[in-house]
Amino acid sequence: MVATVPIIAIDGPSGAGKGTIADMLAQELGWHLLDSGALYRLLALEAQQQGITDPQKHVAELAGLAVSLPIEFKPDSSGHSKACLHGVDVSEAIRNPLISALASRVAAIPEVREGLFQRQRAFLQAPGLVADGRDMGTVVFTDAPLKIFLTASAEERAKRRHKQLKDKGENVSIARLYRDIEERDERDCNRAVAPLRPAEDSIVIDSTDMSIQEVLDKVLSIHYELSASF
Ligand code: DC
Repeated sequence: MVATVPIIAIDGPSGAGKGTIADMLAQELGWHLLDSGALYRLLALEAQQQGITDPQKHVAELAGLAVSLPIEFKPDSSGHSKACLHGVDVSEAIRNPLISALASRVAAIPEVREGLFQRQRAFLQAPGLVADGRDMGTVVFTDAPLKIFLTASAEERAKRRHKQLKDKGENVSIARLYRDIEERDERDCNRAVAPLRPAEDSIVIDSTDMSIQEVLDKVLSIHYELSASF
């Protein structure tokens, strides 16, 4: 079954540029945006605030929070989305490396993923949705007419993360970022539930040697070509 509201599902490993591309696509098309990674990060932040350090020991609590945690995404003055938890803007806090690591562990719990499923589906509203994550095309929006798997080499992803952090005044070594990326890839790709992999009907784009604009142009041209064929 193909969804009546159009969806572009974008999956791929961390640091491949999915977030930036999904945001630009949603702005360009005037569609809604689902940053599903932010949902796992918000849960991880809540877990941290509740003193949970080992998510596996708090499965029932985390599954409950996945369904009921007061999460909101509100546009800021430039139209970009702010992630709010209990009404407080935590967009910066959820990007902290400790939260990234905890989010990856929270995301490995099947009950949490189930709890978030309907919440993610609820983002599907006219005129369209750009959904960014790891299992958008394989689990949550299997009905998406366009599925993109965006990837890049681990070296390139570490370099990009390094530049992002440097621009924010943080100096973390590329070697350390590379190790973090490999560790997260390993966990995201090898977990038992919804492991990261391209959907069979996805289009794989390797952005290692591409600029953001080139990736955006490529996805838009595939989207327009596909829309014209319906
Ligand atoms: O995309 P991100 O780095 O913000 O995602 C944070 C974590 O959540 C990452 O470890 C992967 C996981 N995740 C997931 O398992 N499924 C998704 N749909 C999105 C993110």
